[in-house]
Amino acid sequence: MKAIVQDSYGTPDVLELRDVEQPEPGEREVLLRVRAAGVNIADWFISTGTPYVLRLAGFGLRTPKRTTPGTDVAGEVVAVGAGVTRFKPGDEVFGEGRATFAEYACADEDNLVAKPAGATFEEAAGLPLAGLTALQILRDGARLTEGQRLLVNGSSGGIGTYAVQIAKSMGAEVTAVCGPHNVDLVRELGADHVVDYSREDFTRTSERYDAILDHIMNHPFSALLGLLTPRGVFMPNSGNGGKWMGGGRHRIKAELVKPFTRRRIAPVLARTTRADLEELARMVESGHLRTVVGRTWPLSDAGRALQHVADGHARGKVVVTA
Ligand SMILES: NC(=O)c1ccc[n+]([C@@H]2O[C@H](COP(=O)([O-])OP(=O)(O)OC[C@H]3O[C@@H](n4cnc5c(N)ncnc54)[C@H](OP(=O)(O)O)[C@@H]3O)[C@@H](O)[C@H]2O)c1
Repeated sequence: MKAIVQDSYGTPDVLELRDVEQPEPGEREVLLRVRAAGVNIADWFISTGTPYVLRLAGFGLRTPKRTTPGTDVAGEVVAVGAGVTRFKPGDEVFGEGRATFAEYACADEDNLVAKPAGATFEEAAGLPLAGLTALQILRDGARLTEGQRLLVNGSSGGIGTYAVQIAKSMGAEVTAVCGPHNVDLVRELGADHVVDYSREDFTRTSERYDAILDHIMNHPFSALLGLLTPRGVFMPNSGNGGKWMGGGRHRIKAELVKPFTRRRIAPVLARTTRADLEELARMVESGHLRTVVGRTWPLSDAGRALQHVADGHARGKVVVTA
């Protein structure tokens, strides 16, 4: 089978499309014919080995342990391990797999659920990491309730487009911050108010919010906390924070600031659960959630897809088709 392979850390030119052995599913694993793989900035971090803290965290000090990138996946089950009970060949699924920038990939059966009826493989492949992050941040981090006011900075990317829709389905009043070419998109997704960052600084306002979800972190903590109601919650959620620590820098800063504010600071690290994947699928099927597929690339161009996400201006989800 064909797969994207890298022998060293680096920018997309280290990624090659090669013929490799098809993986074998383990006892509780499923082998998928990958139809689409979602692209996340996390794939770029792992593929380039930056921030360096990732290398210390077990991804490989000098060379990557994961030689084929990709975790988000949607595809068709072609074989199952002896202990698999929930799936059979022919089932169409989505979720978290391993080495998904390939024609075939394995996934733990607990990290997969049925593809929502009516969704394309590309749409389903966008859901796992970004959809889970948006859902878990708004539900568990913000504990958002009906009528609360939420501001999303970076509302037009993967997580942002899901967050606007999920917040609306939770009954929140949403202010979306985005660039000029995405104003119509975020309105269409349900945002009540839109701030175009090229024209307006959203921190220079008398508006107050119950929750702020920030994917960009281009304003000081003090300015963001100052926009919150007295019991408001701030969720820093950018993985970009320099070559050494990445998003860890914002988490450390959050810990340092916490003792000095009555506002809640609640960074959330998304985790894959079957229940939450099912929840996302239900939201898609009930019409409350859709994936905005911004761009797709064929597997052979996975490096370009990664570069596009790393450039920081992806619209909705970027997907690789295999
Ligand atoms: N907590 C977790 O577990 C978790 C999981 C996954 C990802 N993350 C983090 O979440 C962040 C967002 O991820 P993502 O997948 O949504 O990113 P993404 O798809 O790459 O989206 C980036 C978006 O940000 C917008 N943007 C760029 N500059 C902006 C600015 N100055 N003001 C407002 N918007 C701006 C871009 O729109 P324009 O083209 O209009 O600029 C683009 O649509 C990342 O930093 C990632 O590391 C966290």
